[in-house]
Amino acid sequence: MRQARHKLVLSKRHRLRKPLCSTHQMPHHSCQQRNSTAHSAIQTLKDSGMPMDNETYYDEFAEWYEKERHDGYHAFIDRLETNLILPHAAEKDVLEVGCGTGLILQRVAAVARRAVGMDLSAGMLEHAEKRGLEVVKADATDLPFDDESFDLVYSFKVLAHVKDIDKSLAEMARVTRPGGRLILEFYNRLSLRYLAKRLAGPGKISQNTDEGAVFTRWDSPSDLIARLPSNLKLVERYGVRVLTPAAKLHRIPLIAPVLQHAETKAAHNGVLKHFGGFLVLELQKT
Ligand SMILES: C[S@@+](CC[C@H](N)C(=O)[O-])C[C@H]1O[C@@H](n2cnc3c(N)ncnc32)[C@H](O)[C@@H]1O
Repeated sequence: MRQARHKLVLSKRHRLRKPLCSTHQMPHHSCQQRNSTAHSAIQTLKDSGMPMDNETYYDEFAEWYEKERHDGYHAFIDRLETNLILPHAAEKDVLEVGCGTGLILQRVAAVARRAVGMDLSAGMLEHAEKRGLEVVKADATDLPFDDESFDLVYSFKVLAHVKDIDKSLAEMARVTRPGGRLILEFYNRLSLRYLAKRLAGPGKISQNTDEGAVFTRWDSPSDLIARLPSNLKLVERYGVRVLTPAAKLHRIPLIAPVLQHAETKAAHNGVLKHFGGFLVLELQKT
């Protein structure tokens, strides 16, 4: 049995005196120092051509991430993904791996018996904590939970950024109870989204950084299924973002509702779902 080891280390900031930076909840002079130190570290990394580690990248991304996800394409994708989780979460013990700012977790927490989020980035977790969510700072390849702690483990837009995916799959299987579910999302190489990303190049995630700075894997469905641990059985698969060639179409008044209706249907369609940019595997632990 493994014991919980890491608790989120964010509580000290609540004891800081005002005036505080509203974003980082620290005095403005420290916040400015933190920003300029972070920016010069990021610039050094970029200059060296080295990929950025996930923690640095997502700490940098956190503010834009939270700001950009409340409408249009991103809000729609989050809704679609949340709706895949909710039927399995009611009155269950649930873990979100890579919960980010907690946008999906807060909806799941409303129906679950217990909902826990974990993530590598303190910058992302600050927002989740402000939402009143139970969160832990940790790595998806080394989950700080006992064996068989959860009925449902899910993860969206995270595993595509984990190099040692076999270790992470084994960890998620370990913390799931026998008979429990895992709903895990990957980036699908066989998709319009993959093609669009290849053509358009990396998008910006902050003033200093773009998506090219983080490790990203694009798997084919058959490769993923072949590498699942033997105690995980494939129950269902879904395709998210099958038809959308460009996210900005979700901001056009007459097009957005039609496209979103079509995407919702395509996510479950027997043929189309295989070509979702986001491939979601629903698994059962045996
Ligand atoms: C694109 S965000 C998705 C956040 C959330 N799942 C959502 O759908 O809004 C990716 C998240 O994965 C986290 N992440 C990346 N690599 C991780 C790792 N190895 N362990 C834990 N979290 C990780 C990042 O910090 C970030 O919060």
